[in-house]
Amino acid sequence: MTEESDHPLLVVALPGNERLGREIAGKVGGDFATPELRRFPDEESYVRLDAPCEGRDVVLVATLDRPDLKFLPLRFLADLSRELQARRCLLVAPYLAYMRQDTRFRPGEAVTSRSFAELLSNAVDAIITVDPHLHRYASLSDLYTVPTRIVHAAPLLADWIKDEVSAPLLIGPDSESEQWVADVAERADAPYVVLEKVRHGDRDVEVSVPDVDRWKSRRPVLVDDIISTARTMTETVSHLMRVGLAAPVCVGVHAVFAGDACETLRAAGVERIVTTDTIRHDTNGIGVEGALAVALQELLISA
Ligand code: R5P
Repeated sequence: MTEESDHPLLVVALPGNERLGREIAGKVGGDFATPELRRFPDEESYVRLDAPCEGRDVVLVATLDRPDLKFLPLRFLADLSRELQARRCLLVAPYLAYMRQDTRFRPGEAVTSRSFAELLSNAVDAIITVDPHLHRYASLSDLYTVPTRIVHAAPLLADWIKDEVSAPLLIGPDSESEQWVADVAERADAPYVVLEKVRHGDRDVEVSVPDVDRWKSRRPVLVDDIISTARTMTETVSHLMRVGLAAPVCVGVHAVFAGDACETLRAAGVERIVTTDTIRHDTNGIGVEGALAVALQELLISA
């Protein structure tokens, strides 16, 4: 399906990204299209893009949680846009996958962040994303060979906290989160503390009880970049409530929420959970489309 004019920009939303794609196209001023994607009986992919690409910048919008099944259609579309003479093929991936596999934790493990970055860098000409999980890599250019732009959610989270939570105390679940929790806290004009976290396994996380007696009149606001199994947040919520703090608000950038993670977190007694819409989820309450559109506009102008 295509909504056509002769605009030099064509925004193509992969399944599940239609609202975001449409909003970005509206804000940046481009045409919007959705591809025809389906499975042949043998489960191979059928891909068709019925929109003119020649001489245009084609922007694929595809958030990359649960990436394994999303990658091939994305790659096929990128190749197709080039065959159809697109000037460039850019990717807006609000959530960038495989960033947490950034070292060989045990002998023989694949460092999949590198392989995935190579696959994507070979597929598209530039990538825009929101707060990729940079821990052992200092920047995306340590991994990605194409130009990248990062949208920071901190100002959006801070605005939401300022509007929605009175007397907040921001809490980062581990030292990795310190830098950006400090940033959100400063923007929200609120104090913050950072906890110590020990991960014993994929679903086994222990956090230390901080000295929080002085914060009892405040509303704890847990802030993290990714909520995946939600073990990190659930453990933290339980500890904070055990030491007598108010029921916490949980704020996450990327709502990965594996399996029943969200229900488990809710059951721990949180006051509220809110996430950005980099991944569609019931908890979405903070929109990133405006910031993504600005980043795309800047990228288009600079290149
Ligand atoms: C890890 O370093 C991240 O910042 C998050 O704390 C982590 O990804 C959360 O994972 P989970 O929800 O599985 O505890």
